[in-house]
Amino acid sequence: MPDSGYVHSLFSSIAERYVLANHVLSMGMDILWRLRVLECVSEWRPAHLLDVATGTGDLALSIKREFPEIDIVGTDFCESMLQIARRRGLEQTFCADAMQLPVEDGRFDVVTVAFGLRNMENYASALQEFRRVLSPGGHLLILDFSMPRGIVLGAYRLYLHRILPLMAGWLTSRKEAYAYLGQSIEQFPRGEKMLQLLRDTGYLNPTSLPLCGGIAAIYTAEQSCEPNATSVTG
Ligand SMILES: C[S@@+](CC[C@H](N)C(=O)[O-])C[C@H]1O[C@@H](n2cnc3c(N)ncnc32)[C@H](O)[C@@H]1O
Repeated sequence: MPDSGYVHSLFSSIAERYVLANHVLSMGMDILWRLRVLECVSEWRPAHLLDVATGTGDLALSIKREFPEIDIVGTDFCESMLQIARRRGLEQTFCADAMQLPVEDGRFDVVTVAFGLRNMENYASALQEFRRVLSPGGHLLILDFSMPRGIVLGAYRLYLHRILPLMAGWLTSRKEAYAYLGQSIEQFPRGEKMLQLLRDTGYLNPTSLPLCGGIAAIYTAEQSCEPNATSVTG
Protein backbone atom coordinates (compact mmCIF):
# COMPACT_ATOMS: atom_id res chain seq x y z
CA MET A 1 0.00 0.00 0.00
CA PRO A 2 1.21 3.58 -0.63
CA ASP A 3 3.62 5.31 1.74
CA SER A 4 1.86 8.38 3.19
CA GLY A 5 5.07 10.48 3.38
CA TYR A 6 5.64 9.94 -0.34
CA VAL A 7 1.97 10.66 -1.18
CA HIS A 8 2.04 13.88 0.89
CA SER A 9 5.18 15.22 -0.81
CA LEU A 10 3.85 14.18 -4.21
CA PHE A 11 0.57 16.11 -3.95
CA SER A 12 2.32 19.10 -2.32
CA SER A 13 4.60 19.34 -5.34
CA ILE A 14 1.91 19.05 -8.05
CA ALA A 15 -0.87 21.03 -6.30
CA GLU A 16 -0.73 24.06 -8.63
CA ARG A 17 -0.97 21.94 -11.80
CA TYR A 18 -3.25 19.21 -10.41
CA VAL A 19 -6.62 20.47 -11.74
CA LEU A 20 -5.41 20.93 -15.31
CA ALA A 21 -3.43 17.67 -15.34
CA ASN A 22 -6.42 15.78 -13.98
CA HIS A 23 -8.82 16.95 -16.68
CA VAL A 24 -6.30 16.50 -19.53
CA LEU A 25 -5.08 13.05 -18.49
CA SER A 26 -8.57 11.67 -17.92
CA MET A 27 -9.68 13.33 -21.20
CA GLY A 28 -12.41 15.14 -19.27
CA MET A 29 -14.00 11.87 -18.12
CA ASP A 30 -13.46 12.76 -14.44
CA ILE A 31 -16.05 15.52 -14.95
CA LEU A 32 -18.63 12.97 -16.18
CA TRP A 33 -17.82 10.60 -13.31
CA ARG A 34 -18.42 13.35 -10.77
CA LEU A 35 -21.84 13.94 -12.39
CA ARG A 36 -22.70 10.31 -11.56
CA VAL A 37 -21.76 11.02 -7.95
CA LEU A 38 -24.24 13.91 -7.93
CA GLU A 39 -27.02 11.45 -8.85
CA CYS A 40 -26.25 9.38 -5.72
CA VAL A 41 -26.09 12.46 -3.52
CA SER A 42 -29.42 13.66 -4.89
CA GLU A 43 -31.01 10.34 -3.81
CA TRP A 44 -29.58 10.60 -0.29
CA ARG A 45 -30.12 14.37 0.27
CA PRO A 46 -27.77 14.60 3.27
CA ALA A 47 -27.75 17.56 5.66
CA HIS A 48 -24.00 17.20 6.40
CA LEU A 49 -21.43 15.81 3.94
CA LEU A 50 -17.69 15.26 4.41
CA ASP A 51 -15.50 15.04 1.31
CA VAL A 52 -12.34 13.19 2.38
CA ALA A 53 -9.10 13.70 0.42
CA THR A 54 -10.88 16.65 -1.15
CA GLY A 55 -7.65 17.89 -2.75
CA THR A 56 -8.34 21.00 -4.80
CA GLY A 57 -12.05 20.56 -4.08
CA ASP A 58 -13.41 19.39 -7.45
CA LEU A 59 -16.00 16.99 -6.06
CA ALA A 60 -16.98 19.07 -3.02
CA LEU A 61 -17.43 22.16 -5.20
CA SER A 62 -19.56 20.37 -7.79
CA ILE A 63 -21.80 19.00 -5.00
CA LYS A 64 -22.01 22.49 -3.48
CA ARG A 65 -23.01 24.03 -6.82
CA GLU A 66 -25.78 21.47 -7.33
CA PHE A 67 -27.01 21.28 -3.73
CA PRO A 68 -26.25 24.61 -2.00
CA GLU A 69 -28.39 23.59 0.97
CA ILE A 70 -25.97 20.81 2.01
CA ASP A 71 -23.42 21.65 4.71
CA ILE A 72 -20.21 20.48 2.95
CA VAL A 73 -16.82 20.14 4.61
CA GLY A 74 -13.65 19.16 2.74
CA THR A 75 -10.62 17.60 4.38
CA ASP A 76 -7.16 16.62 3.14
CA PHE A 77 -3.73 16.12 4.71
CA CYS A 78 -2.04 18.28 2.11
CA GLU A 79 -2.36 21.97 3.00
CA SER A 80 -1.24 23.21 -0.43
CA MET A 81 -4.09 21.27 -2.11
CA LEU A 82 -6.57 22.70 0.43
CA GLN A 83 -5.36 26.25 -0.19
CA ILE A 84 -6.37 25.87 -3.83
CA ALA A 85 -9.75 24.38 -2.81
CA ARG A 86 -10.37 27.45 -0.61
CA ARG A 87 -9.28 29.82 -3.37
CA ARG A 88 -11.79 28.07 -5.69
CA GLY A 89 -14.64 28.66 -3.18
CA LEU A 90 -14.71 25.72 -0.79
CA GLU A 91 -15.51 27.50 2.46
CA GLN A 92 -15.27 24.77 5.10
CA THR A 93 -12.03 22.79 5.16
CA PHE A 94 -9.64 21.25 7.64
CA CYS A 95 -6.23 19.68 7.28
CA ALA A 96 -6.00 16.14 8.71
CA ASP A 97 -4.96 12.60 7.99
CA ALA A 98 -8.02 10.68 6.80
CA MET A 99 -7.13 7.81 9.11
CA GLN A 100 -7.46 10.02 12.20
CA LEU A 101 -10.16 12.56 11.55
CA PRO A 102 -10.65 15.17 14.31
CA VAL A 103 -14.42 14.71 14.05
CA GLU A 104 -16.93 13.34 16.56
CA ASP A 105 -18.66 9.99 15.92
CA GLY A 106 -21.69 10.08 13.62
CA ARG A 107 -21.21 13.73 12.57
CA PHE A 108 -21.86 13.29 8.81
CA ASP A 109 -24.75 11.75 6.82
CA VAL A 110 -22.56 11.15 3.77
CA VAL A 111 -18.81 10.66 3.35
CA THR A 112 -17.40 10.92 -0.19
CA VAL A 113 -13.85 10.11 -1.26
CA ALA A 114 -12.79 10.58 -4.89
CA PHE A 115 -9.41 9.26 -6.07
CA GLY A 116 -8.28 9.40 -2.44
CA LEU A 117 -8.67 6.01 -0.71
CA ARG A 118 -6.27 4.42 -3.25
CA ASN A 119 -3.51 6.73 -1.97
CA MET A 120 -3.97 5.83 1.69
CA GLU A 121 -1.57 3.67 3.65
CA ASN A 122 -4.19 1.27 5.01
CA TYR A 123 -7.51 0.94 3.15
CA ALA A 124 -9.29 -0.96 5.94
CA SER A 125 -8.27 1.53 8.66
CA ALA A 126 -9.37 4.43 6.48
CA LEU A 127 -12.74 2.78 5.75
CA GLN A 128 -13.30 2.15 9.48
CA GLU A 129 -12.52 5.79 10.24
CA PHE A 130 -15.03 6.96 7.60
CA ARG A 131 -17.61 4.66 9.16
CA ARG A 132 -16.95 6.08 12.61
CA VAL A 133 -17.84 9.61 11.46
CA LEU A 134 -20.99 8.47 9.57
CA SER A 135 -24.38 8.89 11.23
CA PRO A 136 -26.59 5.77 11.68
CA GLY A 137 -27.89 4.84 8.21
CA GLY A 138 -25.39 7.22 6.58
CA HIS A 139 -23.80 6.57 3.19
CA LEU A 140 -20.21 6.18 1.99
CA LEU A 141 -19.32 6.83 -1.65
CA ILE A 142 -15.94 5.97 -3.19
CA LEU A 143 -15.06 7.11 -6.72
CA ASP A 144 -11.76 5.79 -8.02
CA PHE A 145 -9.89 4.35 -10.94
CA SER A 146 -10.19 0.67 -11.70
CA MET A 147 -9.00 -1.70 -14.43
CA PRO A 148 -11.18 -2.67 -17.41
CA ARG A 149 -11.59 -6.33 -18.36
CA GLY A 150 -11.26 -8.16 -21.67
CA ILE A 151 -9.55 -7.03 -24.83
CA VAL A 152 -9.21 -3.36 -23.86
CA LEU A 153 -7.07 -4.25 -20.82
CA GLY A 154 -3.82 -4.45 -22.83
CA ALA A 155 -4.41 -1.10 -24.53
CA TYR A 156 -5.38 0.48 -21.22
CA ARG A 157 -2.18 -0.80 -19.54
CA LEU A 158 -0.14 0.68 -22.40
CA TYR A 159 -1.82 4.06 -21.80
CA LEU A 160 -1.48 3.83 -18.00
CA HIS A 161 2.13 2.75 -17.75
CA ARG A 162 3.72 4.27 -20.88
CA ILE A 163 1.72 7.14 -22.40
CA LEU A 164 0.24 8.71 -19.27
CA PRO A 165 3.56 9.17 -17.40
CA LEU A 166 5.02 10.85 -20.51
CA MET A 167 2.10 13.28 -20.87
CA ALA A 168 2.05 13.90 -17.12
CA GLY A 169 5.78 14.63 -17.08
CA TRP A 170 5.11 17.33 -19.65
CA LEU A 171 2.13 18.76 -17.71
CA THR A 172 3.48 18.58 -14.13
CA SER A 173 7.27 18.05 -14.45
CA ARG A 174 6.73 14.99 -12.20
CA LYS A 175 6.74 12.02 -14.56
CA GLU A 176 7.37 9.58 -11.69
CA ALA A 177 4.23 10.83 -9.94
CA TYR A 178 2.22 9.29 -12.72
CA ALA A 179 4.26 6.09 -12.77
CA TYR A 180 3.09 5.85 -9.16
CA LEU A 181 -0.51 6.45 -10.34
CA GLY A 182 -0.38 3.37 -12.59
CA GLN A 183 1.03 1.15 -9.82
CA SER A 184 -1.53 2.38 -7.31
CA ILE A 185 -4.42 1.63 -9.71
CA GLU A 186 -3.12 -1.91 -10.34
CA GLN A 187 -2.91 -2.56 -6.58
CA PHE A 188 -6.24 -1.01 -5.57
CA PRO A 189 -9.00 -3.58 -4.80
CA ARG A 190 -11.65 -3.66 -7.51
CA GLY A 191 -15.08 -5.16 -8.07
CA GLU A 192 -15.94 -8.00 -5.68
CA LYS A 193 -12.70 -7.45 -3.72
CA MET A 194 -13.73 -3.92 -2.85
CA LEU A 195 -17.26 -5.05 -1.97
CA GLN A 196 -15.77 -7.67 0.38
CA LEU A 197 -13.47 -5.08 1.96
CA LEU A 198 -16.49 -2.88 2.62
CA ARG A 199 -18.34 -5.82 4.25
CA ASP A 200 -15.25 -6.72 6.29
CA THR A 201 -15.00 -3.19 7.63
CA GLY A 202 -18.61 -3.33 8.80
CA TYR A 203 -20.55 -1.62 6.02
CA LEU A 204 -23.95 -2.79 4.83
CA ASN A 205 -25.34 -3.16 1.31
CA PRO A 206 -22.18 -2.40 -0.69
CA THR A 207 -22.72 -1.71 -4.40
CA SER A 208 -20.41 -1.12 -7.35
CA LEU A 209 -21.01 0.78 -10.56
CA PRO A 210 -18.31 0.42 -13.25
CA LEU A 211 -17.78 3.57 -15.33
CA CYS A 212 -16.42 3.82 -18.91
CA GLY A 213 -16.03 0.07 -19.32
CA GLY A 214 -14.34 -0.34 -15.93
CA ILE A 215 -11.68 2.40 -16.11
CA ALA A 216 -13.28 3.87 -12.99
CA ALA A 217 -15.93 2.76 -10.51
CA ILE A 218 -18.27 4.16 -7.92
CA TYR A 219 -18.74 2.08 -4.76
CA THR A 220 -21.41 2.88 -2.19
CA ALA A 221 -22.14 1.35 1.20
CA GLU A 222 -24.17 2.12 4.29
CA GLN A 223 -23.49 2.60 7.95
CA SER A 224 -25.72 0.50 10.20
CA CYS A 225 -28.87 2.16 11.52
CA GLU A 226 -27.86 1.23 15.09
CA PRO A 227 -26.29 4.22 16.85
CA ASN A 228 -22.56 3.71 17.69
CA ALA A 229 -22.36 0.59 15.46
CA THR A 230 -18.68 1.02 14.72
CA SER A 231 -17.37 -2.44 15.57
CA VAL A 232 -15.85 -4.45 12.73
CA THR A 233 -17.88 -7.49 11.74
CA GLY A 234 -15.97 -9.49 9.19
C1 LIG B 1 -5.78 12.31 -6.57
S1 LIG B 1 -6.12 13.51 -5.33
C2 LIG B 1 -7.87 13.58 -5.35
C3 LIG B 1 -8.40 14.95 -5.01
C4 LIG B 1 -9.90 15.14 -5.20
N1 LIG B 1 -10.68 14.27 -4.36
C5 LIG B 1 -10.31 15.00 -6.64
O1 LIG B 1 -11.25 14.25 -6.93
O2 LIG B 1 -9.72 15.65 -7.51
C6 LIG B 1 -5.78 12.61 -3.88
C7 LIG B 1 -5.81 13.44 -2.62
O3 LIG B 1 -5.77 12.54 -1.51
C8 LIG B 1 -5.06 13.19 -0.47
N2 LIG B 1 -4.64 12.17 0.49
C9 LIG B 1 -3.91 11.06 0.25
N3 LIG B 1 -3.72 10.37 1.39
C10 LIG B 1 -4.37 11.05 2.37
C11 LIG B 1 -4.55 10.83 3.77
N4 LIG B 1 -4.03 9.78 4.37
N5 LIG B 1 -5.28 11.73 4.45
C12 LIG B 1 -5.81 12.81 3.83
N6 LIG B 1 -5.66 13.08 2.52
C13 LIG B 1 -4.95 12.19 1.80
C14 LIG B 1 -3.91 13.89 -1.21
O4 LIG B 1 -3.32 14.91 -0.45
C15 LIG B 1 -4.62 14.40 -2.45
O5 LIG B 1 -5.10 15.71 -2.28
